[in-house]
Amino acid sequence: MYYPQEIVDEVLANTDIVDVISAHVHLKKRGKDYVGLCPFHNEKTPSFTVVPGKNMYYCFGCGAGGSAVTFLMKYNNSTFTEALQELADRAGITLPVRELSEEAGKREKHRQDLLAVNKETATYYYKLLRSRRGERGMRYFAGRQLSPEALNKFGLGFADGSRNDLTAYLRKKGFSDDLILESDVALFNEKQGVHDRFWNRVMFPIQDVRGRVIGFGGRVLGDSKPKYINSSDTEIFDKGRNLYALNLARRSKKDYLILCEGYMDVIAMHQAGFIEAVASLGTAFTPGQASLLHRYTNRVLLAYDSDGAGVRAALRNIGILRSAGLDTAVIDLRPHKDPDEFIKKEGKEAFQERIDQAENSFFYELRMLSRSYTMDDPAQRTAFHREIAKRLCRFSDEIERDNYITAVADKYLIKLESLRRLVASYGEATGYGDQNERGRAGTAGYAQAYRGGRNGAVETGRAAGYAQAYRGGGRNGDRETGRTAAGTGAGEQVHGARQAGPGAGEKSRDTRQTGAGPGRQGLDQGQAGTGSGRQEKAGPAVRAGRPGGASPLSRAELALLNKQRMLLTMIIDERSVFPIVRRYLTPADFDGTLFRKTAEILWEQLEQGGDSACAASVISAFDTPEEQEAVAAMLNARAPEAEDGPPDPDGLGRTLRELVIAVKESSIARMSRTDGGSPASLQDLLAAKKLLQTIRTARFNV
Ligand code: CTP
Ligand code: MN
Repeated sequence: MYYPQEIVDEVLANTDIVDVISAHVHLKKRGKDYVGLCPFHNEKTPSFTVVPGKNMYYCFGCGAGGSAVTFLMKYNNSTFTEALQELADRAGITLPVRELSEEAGKREKHRQDLLAVNKETATYYYKLLRSRRGERGMRYFAGRQLSPEALNKFGLGFADGSRNDLTAYLRKKGFSDDLILESDVALFNEKQGVHDRFWNRVMFPIQDVRGRVIGFGGRVLGDSKPKYINSSDTEIFDKGRNLYALNLARRSKKDYLILCEGYMDVIAMHQAGFIEAVASLGTAFTPGQASLLHRYTNRVLLAYDSDGAGVRAALRNIGILRSAGLDTAVIDLRPHKDPDEFIKKEGKEAFQERIDQAENSFFYELRMLSRSYTMDDPAQRTAFHREIAKRLCRFSDEIERDNYITAVADKYLIKLESLRRLVASYGEATGYGDQNERGRAGTAGYAQAYRGGRNGAVETGRAAGYAQAYRGGGRNGDRETGRTAAGTGAGEQVHGARQAGPGAGEKSRDTRQTGAGPGRQGLDQGQAGTGSGRQEKAGPAVRAGRPGGASPLSRAELALLNKQRMLLTMIIDERSVFPIVRRYLTPADFDGTLFRKTAEILWEQLEQGGDSACAASVISAFDTPEEQEAVAAMLNARAPEAEDGPPDPDGLGRTLRELVIAVKESSIARMSRTDGGSPASLQDLLAAKKLLQTIRTARFNV
């Protein structure tokens, strides 16, 4: 984190979270809290709750939660610094300026200059389109049935016949020729000197995820070639790492994004309400773009042209998407050429139907493959079946593989047992799973479990959240984490070990970016720590990850985590609880690094006499959005009483005692364990046991 905790706290203390969130979510007051429809998952009844008293929000539906900072980060997909800056601006607080090295400062300034040129250029073309000189452009767009809203939303513009006007305009704005040329909106030759790059074209500004213009595509008005000219890559424009309209699509609530080929397709889809559409930028789709997509979704639907080139591109990109851990399916646009044409001819309802019917990419691949075999020739038919069997071996997960075997046998009228045997014989010879699948099985499964809520698997999401909290904090490979996990046998070898083979160096910063294939240890907290911690003992890989699978924690472990969570929530919610709890428990009694760390921060704040509204501040003491979310969940347990009726004060005391006892007992159990880690001294153990006796008989007047 760049900023000291005090600054973050100050910003949060001066932020009205209801204010911030209601700018984006319609909130209704309910008791002391506010509720609304969760912006992070689809729901019909509000479970998204803003708790001004705790300065935080929490969604009981999907588990999203945190402070005003995390809200903005998640809502706008922005960085911590950006979100904090936004809040500081609102609150009129000046953040300390981050010190950059001289070189980094220069580079940053240069990037800002390039962005400024692009922005001015976009403005220039935008205004030109809307002026008298832009009539031809307007007529073109009208012919393509684009609405004025779409024109504005995409910032579309026009470059008329002039060869120098943009350059002159930019010079007048004070930009140097060098900078103008480097931005690639102008070119240089001996005859013309510095002159505009685009003319007689309708202009598509290309924006990065944050909505900053970084380049342009320009389309001819007629049929001449080349149809499009795009700015070349510059320091701020990397075509392989950006996607057209992702800045808009990232706001979509759907649990998939649609990838298509053309700018015009994207715009037509957005205009029809499919704001989840993005496109690559006139170059072949790259793994970089796949992992960019993976930051925002787990599932990508391809809406590629239905011609030969479109099919080839789709087949190629399915592989890239799969390697990045994304689930893929293909939208069938036949008999039409592309999404733009489809929507014009058939309308948006029909397009939605095609989305709903999108074909699983594995079946799509088989269908395309089947075209090159003549099925009534037994030899070719056999060859086709062999090829199918080989491909089925790529599924490393047995259950998944078997499901596919069944489905494929059904679809291609192959005898199930024969296909099974064929797959098994290939599998025995060459093994199951391929490089790509291997990466996918582990990471996608985990990421999916973790973000379960988005896919509706709320419980799975929660369980994984606990699991993470439990193993958590081990981002830096802290040994403690390894020990705890090993001690309880809550094995997380599942993903870690498989991938963290020798040479597993790179650790992704972010769960959402995971799954870039083997060797890249994508999962964040805990993974790194537990994986490596235990690998020494556990040896090489053990089990395959289960896509979408729940956490491997046992029922008893989950129950304990749940109790810890309820206890922490009670401490936050009820001022009178803490003085009692601290008599009997210390943060060290909590199991799981993230729980322990949360308790430490909470203890520290409450001992200093901090007021009760410190949830947001506790949350913001954690670095990553994943940790923050897990902590938000921890501080937001729903007490069981809440569902059965009003809580009675005696009940509260009883519950509190039970929780304290449970935490203490588990702490004692850990202390007395001698496997793994250093056992506590006998003296400490006896003291703890004595304290437990006291708890059993003490008064718990809450
Ligand atoms: N493209 C390009 N240069 C070309 C042709 C195409 O950069 N000479 C890129 C553009 O990004 C374009 C995409 O490939 O959006 C898809 O091409 P195409 O289907 O031909 O264009 P559309 O955007 O669909 O445009 P239109 O509907 O006007 O044909
Ligand atoms: Mn097209």
